[in-house]
Amino acid sequence: MRVAWLFLRNRIITKDDIAASYDAVSSKYDDVFMGTMSAYNDELLEQAVRRLRQRQGLSILDLACGTGYNIGYLRAACPGSRFDAVDISSGMLGSIPGAADVVRHHRDMLSFLESAGRDTYDLIVCSWALKYQNPRKLIRQCYRVLRQNGVLAVIVNTRQTLPEVRRVYPKLLANNVDRIDKLMLELPNPKTEADLLRWARSSGFSAKAGNSLSHVFWFDGPSSAVEFVTSTGALAGFDAMIDLRDRKVKGEMAVLFGQAQTRSITHSFVYGVFEKEELG
Ligand SMILES: C[S@@+](CC[C@H](N)C(=O)[O-])C[C@H]1O[C@@H](n2cnc3c(N)ncnc32)[C@H](O)[C@@H]1O
Repeated sequence: MRVAWLFLRNRIITKDDIAASYDAVSSKYDDVFMGTMSAYNDELLEQAVRRLRQRQGLSILDLACGTGYNIGYLRAACPGSRFDAVDISSGMLGSIPGAADVVRHHRDMLSFLESAGRDTYDLIVCSWALKYQNPRKLIRQCYRVLRQNGVLAVIVNTRQTLPEVRRVYPKLLANNVDRIDKLMLELPNPKTEADLLRWARSSGFSAKAGNSLSHVFWFDGPSSAVEFVTSTGALAGFDAMIDLRDRKVKGEMAVLFGQAQTRSITHSFVYGVFEKEELG
């Protein structure tokens, strides 16, 4: 009943809600998430850099750049490059140290791409964020704004990610129906690496590297699992549906994790490196 009421009043999670979720975790994000997951950014970026015809003085776009991990890596790998760093969260964007080679853009990915000129970038990176806007539209725009032989590098969760959270979240909602403030629609994550490949190919890209991976985080108890999922941005948007920072809600989530004997949380993801090849 309440869900229908929210739906009819268009109480749907927006980009601003996602931005607010990331603002809230921005100070912990590097420690809690990137401390471990940056190993996969490294794998993606290493594959991307290998594909570049030249390695210096590039024009690079980091879409949903977060706290700027990719920029640090690419600055070392591709000296003399210039970066456009785009993110919707001022908290995340504000964590990037100011530098002469970086222009920060407080924008959403799609509107930034749509306003960018064609043939502008040698490399575009989008890590852990493609799902936040229509992935096919984003990839199509990336193709347009890349130069010939430009490279697109994407790493993104699959729909199967966080199964342990998926198991308890509906119960948490059911127990707190009156507290549900907005509805979160399913994020358009790819099901498999083949989906990502298909999206890229249909925009004209050729695939150069890819992988399907997962990473398991282990916890000493349900409360640490709750702290983890509410501090990484993994539940961005879902925390606006029901306030996951509320102590009572967090306590209930810990109980549900305990009942489900949850000791670990599994991130499942895929990556792809694609090239806009010379025509004919
Ligand atoms: C999981 S973080 C990844 C950050 C960074 N790419 C990394 O590898 O650490 C997701 C980022 O996407 C940003 N984001 C979410 N929706 C966005 C949108 N529509 N446009 C731009 N940035 C967005 C968030 O603010 C957050 O910084």
